Amino acid sequence: MDQIDVLNFGSLNIDLVYQLPHFVRPKETLSCTEFARFAGGKGLNQSVALARAGVRVAHAGKIGPDGEFLAETLRNAGVDTHFLLRGEEPTGHAVIQVDREGQNCILLYPGANCSITRTEIRGILGQIRKGTILLLQNEINDLPFLMKEAAERGLSIAINPAPCGPEVAAYPLELAETLFVNEVEGAELSGCGGSPAEVLDILCARYPHSEIIMTLGADGACRAKGPDRFHVASPPVAVVDTTSAGDTFTGYYLAAKLRGYSPERAMETAALAGSIAVGRAGAAVSIPKAEEVFPAEG
Ligand code: RIB
Repeated sequence: MDQIDVLNFGSLNIDLVYQLPHFVRPKETLSCTEFARFAGGKGLNQSVALARAGVRVAHAGKIGPDGEFLAETLRNAGVDTHFLLRGEEPTGHAVIQVDREGQNCILLYPGANCSITRTEIRGILGQIRKGTILLLQNEINDLPFLMKEAAERGLSIAINPAPCGPEVAAYPLELAETLFVNEVEGAELSGCGGSPAEVLDILCARYPHSEIIMTLGADGACRAKGPDRFHVASPPVAVVDTTSAGDTFTGYYLAAKLRGYSPERAMETAALAGSIAVGRAGAAVSIPKAEEVFPAEG
C-alpha cells in the first residue's frame, strides 16, 4: 500500500434522490419531478473531497454485493480502496428528498455500514502509521471502540459526528483533534439551542484540546479552539442541492491544513469548495476538483 495522509473509516451509501416541490407531509402522497441514483454516504463523499483536493486518502468501510459501483466511484476519484470490506448485508442507502429551494431531508438505511467487526477494525488500524489522520463520521458502528483503538495507536482523529443522535454525547470526543459540526449537530451535542457562539462556548469548555469547526450553511462557518474564535463567510451561490456541502467542507478543510494553510485560510478554502458543491446536484458528483478551489501555483 502507498503512503497515505488520511484514513477515512466511513460510510458508503447508494443515494436515491427525489426532486419534489416540498418535503412529503404526514398522510400525503406526492409525485417527484425527477429521480436520480448517485454514489453517496458521508464517508464516501468526504473521501472523494479529500482525493479531489489532492490528498492521499484511503477509505475503509463496508459494502454489500450491490455496492461495487461505490468502490469504483472511489477509485475513479483517486481514493485507495485497499481497505474496503465486503459483506453479505445490502449496501447502505439514503432516500433523499430535495425541495425547490435545494434543501434536503434524508432517510438512512445503514445496511453494511453497521456490520463492521472489531477484528476488521483492529486489522485495518494495525496497518496505519502513527500520525496519520483518521477521519470519521457517525454512519458506521462501534465508533467509541474505533476512536479509542486509534488514539492508542497514535492516529490523529478528526470526526464529523453526523448524523448526531443522543448517543454521540457519550463518545470519547475529547480524543479528537478536530470536531466538525453543523448547527443542528452542535445544538444536539451541546444540549444548547442558543446561538453558535453559545454552542461553541459549551463545546470548547468540554473539549478544550480540540479545534471545533461549526458550519452554518449560507451564514459561513466558525472555528474555535480554547479562547480563539473566528468566522468566515460563505461565498454567495445559487442553491441547487445542499447534499454533501458539509462533506466537501470537511475534506477541503483537512486538505488545506495538510498543505500548510493557516486555519483562517483553510476555512476560507473549505467554504469556497462547499459553495461550489451547493451549486450542483448530487452528493459525490457535485464535489469540486482542486483546480476549481486552490489558486494556480507557479
Ligand atoms: O452528507 C450527505 C450524505 O448523507 C448523503 O450522500 C447520504 O448518503 C447521507 O449519508
